Amino acid sequence: MEKLTLVGDRQWVPLVTGGEVRRLDLDYAATAPCAAQVRDAVDEILPWYGSVHRGDGFPSAVCTELQEACRESVRAFAGARADDTVIFTRNTTDSLNLLAHALPADCEVFGFATEHHANLLPWERRTVHRLPVPDGPAHALALLDAALASAAPGGGGGSRLVTLAGASNVTGEVWPVAELARVARRYGARIAVDAAQLAAHRPLDMSGWDVDYVAFSGHKLYAPYGAGALVGRPDWLDAAAPYLAGGGATRHVDLQTVDWAPSPQRHEAGSPNFLGNYALATACELLHASLRSGLVEQEERLTALLERELAGIPGLRVHRMWDERHPRVGTVTFTVRGHEPGLLSAALSAEHGIAVRTGRFCAHPLVKHLLGDGHGGGNAVRVSIGAGITEQDISDFVWALAGLVERGPAWSYRAEGARFVPDPDPRPMPELSHGARVRLRAAERRERAVRTPVGAACGG
Ligand SMILES: Cc1ncc(COP(=O)(O)O)c(C=O)c1O
Repeated sequence: MEKLTLVGDRQWVPLVTGGEVRRLDLDYAATAPCAAQVRDAVDEILPWYGSVHRGDGFPSAVCTELQEACRESVRAFAGARADDTVIFTRNTTDSLNLLAHALPADCEVFGFATEHHANLLPWERRTVHRLPVPDGPAHALALLDAALASAAPGGGGGSRLVTLAGASNVTGEVWPVAELARVARRYGARIAVDAAQLAAHRPLDMSGWDVDYVAFSGHKLYAPYGAGALVGRPDWLDAAAPYLAGGGATRHVDLQTVDWAPSPQRHEAGSPNFLGNYALATACELLHASLRSGLVEQEERLTALLERELAGIPGLRVHRMWDERHPRVGTVTFTVRGHEPGLLSAALSAEHGIAVRTGRFCAHPLVKHLLGDGHGGGNAVRVSIGAGITEQDISDFVWALAGLVERGPAWSYRAEGARFVPDPDPRPMPELSHGARVRLRAAERRERAVRTPVGAACGG
């Protein structure tokens, strides 16, 4: 397999306790590091950068050709059918909102309470059949079957969409997508997969699974250049009003009428994020190969090791929906009795240079179901792995966590909501260009003035 190498991997970061350490990123589920191959591909094409579908210059011709070729890389990565449309978006949230916008007026939506907010909230304007957290994959199939059966007595007339995550961003558990698609088909329903968490860890197979739509984000696929994709059946998308109205989405305009183009252009008005789309397609090609030549097995081994080592920490509980034998991607959420999740996460970063995540991971209903409201204020710690992580990294993380659990942090922290921040924080900002340093200092001043932590938003 072509090894995915990562930009900024093992970079030195300062510690509050003094000195520096090589950073360890265990927060791939929020955003993965950039692959060096993706960066290099973008750098290579940058001198040829020009407008897409909008210019007669030679760079425009190059970029227009490439952008259309990128759709084919994304299509192959998704395992899509030849007639599926590939629409470039900003990210998974954007893709799912686009699909929600394009649903036929009579469409009813079916989904579980386990979803990320990006796959809970866009459907709100529809009739939504929200199914409870299933206690196993077989229960999930039974719940969906029953919901579709009771919502469509006698076969029903309107359209239906089942929408679910391919893998949970909280527990990493992989959903039985193909089996759920079979249930959906029995009732003439379509199925959309939020592959934000699955796509970097398992090959996608839309046609094999008989899935109608998938959505994913480049930044979770080692391509953080601001692009994502919605791939799927074009008919609903071609019948819907354009997601955005504007240039590039039309065939002809006069002051009385507009002749809108079919998808993908119909929903891509405005100048495209060509470099983002190019980065996404490059990552898709890279991952298409890596996931079929060892990356999946390597991540499975490391996830099993992580779970075994975490089991040795007193009071630590891993949260999952289903039986521990159920397959999962390398995402593990846990709490430790008597320890604030936010404090553990802050101290891991400030004292050990290890990045994990704390909170409810934009999946509040599922986290509440798993944790209740009690300990940790309903928050947890999430650790997530991907390409480039080694056994040594897992051991280093567990060693640092075990030390914090046993002895507590070595520094003082103040609470800001569910988060904790070092107080004081003596870490110098990195040696960046003059402009970047000025911007960082300005952000720090603003933060102190309003006491709003930069980046305190939900994040996946
Ligand atoms: C399962 C799932 N769906 C959707 C999203 C939203 O992705 P994005 O923020 O890239 O739109 C996330 C983000 O973490 C996620 O984990």
